Amino acid sequence: MAALKLGLALLTLAVSVSAVPLEPRQSISALSTSQISTFKPFTHYASTAYCNPSTTLTWSCGSNCQANPTFKPVASGGDGNGTQFWYVGYDPTLKTVVVAHQGTDTSQILADLTDADIIRETLDSTLFPGISSSVTVHSGFANEQAKTATLILSAVQTALSNNGANTVTIVGHSLGAAIALIDSVYLPLHLPGVTFQSVLYGLPRVGNQDFADYVDANLHITHINNLKDPIPIVPGRFLGFHHPSGEVHISENGAWEACPGQDNTSNLCIVGDVPNIFESTESDHDGPYDGLFMGC
Ligand SMILES: *[C@@H]1O[C@H](CO)[C@@H](O)[C@H](O)[C@H]1NC(C)=O
Ligand SMILES: *[C@@H]1O[C@H](CO)[C@@H](O)[C@H](O)[C@H]1NC(C)=O
Repeated sequence: MAALKLGLALLTLAVSVSAVPLEPRQSISALSTSQISTFKPFTHYASTAYCNPSTTLTWSCGSNCQANPTFKPVASGGDGNGTQFWYVGYDPTLKTVVVAHQGTDTSQILADLTDADIIRETLDSTLFPGISSSVTVHSGFANEQAKTATLILSAVQTALSNNGANTVTIVGHSLGAAIALIDSVYLPLHLPGVTFQSVLYGLPRVGNQDFADYVDANLHITHINNLKDPIPIVPGRFLGFHHPSGEVHISENGAWEACPGQDNTSNLCIVGDVPNIFESTESDHDGPYDGLFMGC
């Protein structure tokens, strides 16, 4: 619980820092070592999403599973091909339900997101009741999220009620981060009164300005970007895509910089540090995130 509380305090800090209009020079601040360590369980959870569902359902996937030894799985699925792997369960140590989505191959997602034919669409009104039609998201990501949406909702309901829980943490890396971000919009619409937070790694841009503003106004998101990873800077802002607030950027000297606002252009944050994909490093996408590389 201590770790989760620290994580939540950090998220609140990030939100309140960006909300103070009178500070002339809000600083980009480096997280302390103990703040960084609060993310470790979630980094393992995001990494675990790359493991075969048969091993996440029994929590027998090896070192990633052993890193969160008290986890109680509820459901898992996907085939890693048409549908990315996912799992849902409960962490009695952190007292949170965990929802995790698998990512994909870096070169594959980079090719998809630099394709000129990227289409955005409004969110489906059955899955997302009440969301304004001015909110648009990447069509491919919306399709991926829709494939597992109701299965995940029902598993989360089971995990909450079986454990008397009231908190859900949604995690993912790469494509899994994009699906997790859309799940972060979807699940609260169907689970009023539940507290949500999301910890996302190597998140690509998912939606338009209204989407980013909706996320900022309603959700608690941290998205962690490593070094010169190209994925967080695609699709380009010139195509109308925008990140929500909540960026943490891992810099060359190992510092985790909390970057206020959306798409902060400071050199300490990914937009400033990686001006275009030709100055990026694909291998940074998988890690290391505080020493950990994504993958089962
Ligand atoms: C992946 O999906 C495609 C299209 O549905 C299918 O043709 C292919 O056999 C699948 N590959 C594996 C390894 O399941
Ligand atoms: C980026 O961070 C700086 C703090 O160094 C802040 O002044 C600025 O408003 C931020 N930019 C955006 C776009 O939020």
